[in-house]
Amino acid sequence: MTRNISPSLLSANFIKLKEDIEAVEKLGVNRLHLDVMDGHFVPNLTFGPFIISQIRKITDLHLETHLMIENPDKYISEYAKAGSDTIIIHYEASHNITEDLQKIKSYKRNAGIAINPDTDHRLLTPYLEDLDYILIMSVFPGFGGQKFIESTLESMRYLVDNTKNHNITIGVDGGVNLSTIDRVYQTGIDVTIVGSALYGATNVEQRYLELINEK
Ligand code: DX5
Ligand code: ZN
Repeated sequence: MTRNISPSLLSANFIKLKEDIEAVEKLGVNRLHLDVMDGHFVPNLTFGPFIISQIRKITDLHLETHLMIENPDKYISEYAKAGSDTIIIHYEASHNITEDLQKIKSYKRNAGIAINPDTDHRLLTPYLEDLDYILIMSVFPGFGGQKFIESTLESMRYLVDNTKNHNITIGVDGGVNLSTIDRVYQTGIDVTIVGSALYGATNVEQRYLELINEK
């Protein structure tokens, strides 16, 4: 099966964002990863619903919005209205996970949760019925270009095994590059998020083919 890669626009060139989106559309990706940071939950700031609504106007790709923000419940409606297809809240930021996931679904969006590398993956068990997507962080969120944390491979194997009877997509985010991607897919996960290892390449097309192992 072809590897499913969700390019992270965090490493794209925002001056020529349209070109950078078209470049990966042409390669055949089916989704884009949008990193929203609030400067509180993580020590960095990126963009919000306005930029996402502009991106929505220029692409039909599935937009997965990774909310690295405190109090995600307050903002879910805005990100749904901006055109996100999947909305991912952080386990560590939510005050009521079940309610937040239901809220995302009330807007007919896919509901996702992200877990940090030091959060016990078993804590997700009570929420499996409500989840469409699990995002396993393989770095601490906040910045692109960080080093992959090896111990998260264990969370990947555990969650792949324990979600077999559910219709949940499992994504892995952070430090996925040519040296780590094979081991990540070997765990059985569905999607990798790739930022710097794709958009940072001199030849993005060639790098994409190397990453999906079809060069
Ligand atoms: C990190 C973000 C990631 C980031 C990944 O906080 O959630 O999506 O863009 O970047 P790379 O692929 O460079 O590790
Ligand atoms: Zn992300």
